[in-house]
Amino acid sequence: MLNIQSHVALKPYNTFGIDANARYWVEAGSEEDLQTVLQLNEFLDEPKLILGGGSNVLLCHDFAGLVVKVNIQGIKVVRETDTHIYITAGAGVNWHMLVLFCVENGYAGIENLALIPGTVGAAPMQNIGAYGVELEQAFESLTAVNILTGEKQTFTHGDCKFGYRESIFKRALKGQYIITSVTFQLDKQPTFHTRYGAIQETLTQMGISDENLSIKAISEAVIKIRRSKLPDPAQIGNAGSFFKNPEITTAQFDKLKAQYPALPGYPMGNDIVKIPAGWLIEQTGWKGYRSGDAGVHAKQALVLVNYGNATGDDILLLAKKVQESVWTTFGITISPEVNIV
Ligand code: FAD
Ligand code: EPU
Repeated sequence: MLNIQSHVALKPYNTFGIDANARYWVEAGSEEDLQTVLQLNEFLDEPKLILGGGSNVLLCHDFAGLVVKVNIQGIKVVRETDTHIYITAGAGVNWHMLVLFCVENGYAGIENLALIPGTVGAAPMQNIGAYGVELEQAFESLTAVNILTGEKQTFTHGDCKFGYRESIFKRALKGQYIITSVTFQLDKQPTFHTRYGAIQETLTQMGISDENLSIKAISEAVIKIRRSKLPDPAQIGNAGSFFKNPEITTAQFDKLKAQYPALPGYPMGNDIVKIPAGWLIEQTGWKGYRSGDAGVHAKQALVLVNYGNATGDDILLLAKKVQESVWTTFGITISPEVNIV
C-alpha cells in the first residue's frame, strides 16, 4: 500500500545529517509500487530524487519534488554452476547485510567491501570500491525501471560502463533509471585480496596466517580497519570520502614528486597515476579543521563532517575552499564523489 506523504524531514534519511525537507515522500517496497508511483498524474512532472540509505548525498536545499526511497527487500540464490553462485538482491537490501550473508554462506567476491554503508541498489551507481576490490568484479547484471516510461530493463556488465566511482547511471543515464535489483556472480573457490593497505598487517595481528585465511577473516580485518579510520555517521554526520582520488599523468606526477618527495602515487597503467586526495588535503593544512559545525575529519582528511547543525551549503563552502587550496598548492583538481543535490 503506497503512502505518499508531504513535507517530510530528510535529516534521518541522509548520513550527513543535513536538515532539509521533501515536498513529497514515498517508500517503494516493490517494483510494482515504483511503477504505480511513476504513473501517477500528479507526480509526472515533479522532479524526483531517488534515495537508498542516503550515505552518498549532500542535500543543499529542500527538495521541491518527490523523494522516492527504494525499499525493495529479498536475497535469493538464482543459479549455480560448478564454480559460481548467482545471487539476486533487492535494491533496498542493506549492502553490509548482503556481504554478511555471502560470507556466512562461503560465497566469495565481496568480502573486501564489508561495512560500506547504504543499499544494494545504489552500489552500482558509483561502482563502490574498497580495499582492492570494486563491485564490478562480482557484478553480473541489474534490473531497473525507467523513470519516464515505467518500463523494466536489464543492464549487463558492459551496459553499465563501470569505472572508478563511475557508471553510466552517473553519466549518460543520470536521473533516468531506478535500480530495482542486482545479480552477483560469486565464487565457490575464493581468490583472496589481501595486498591493499593494512589488510595483511591486520590479519597477522588477528593471528591469521595463510593456512587459516578465509573470506570471513578478510571481512573482519576490513571491518576493523574501517572502524579505526572512518567516522561512524551515527556519531558524526558524513558521507565517506567527499572527493575522488585524482588521476594525473606520469609526467605531472614526476614533476610534483621532485618538488614533494613524500607524494604518494599508485600507477594505474596507461601513463596514469592515482594520488590519494587525503594526502593532498592534509598537506594543505585542512585536516582536523572546523568552522561552525562543518569540518574536515581529524583521522581521514578526505572525509568532510557535520558536527550537528551544518547546512549543505556550509559543507559545500568548505569543500570549495579545500578544492581551491589543493589546486593552488599542487595544480590538481579534486572532484566530489558525493552526489550534491
Ligand atoms: P544514496 O546516498 O541514497 O544515493 C546515492 C546516489 O545513488 C544518489 O545519486 C541517489 O539518487 C542514487 N540512488 C540510490 N539508490 C538508487 C536506486 N535504487 N536506483 C537509482 N539510483 C539510486 N563508498 C565506496 O565506494 N567505498 C567506501 O569505502 C565507502 N565508504 C563509506 C564510508 C562511510 C562512513 C560513508 C558514510 C559512506 C561511504 N561510501 C563508500 C559511500 C556510500 O556508502 C556508497 O556510495 C553507497 O553505495 C551509497 O548507498 P546509499 O544507498 O546510501 O545511496
Ligand atoms: N592519506 C593521508 N592523510 C589522510 C588520509 C589519507 O595522507 O588524512 C593518504 C595516506 O597516504 C594513505 C592514503 O592516503 O596511505 C590512502 O588512504 P586510505 O587507505 O584511507 O584510502 P583513501 O584513498 O583515502 C579510498 C576510498 C575509500 C575506501 C578506501 C579503502 C576513494 C575516494 N576513497 O580512500 O572509499 O574505503 O580507499 O579502499 O577512493 C568512499 O568512497 O566513500 C570511501 C570511504
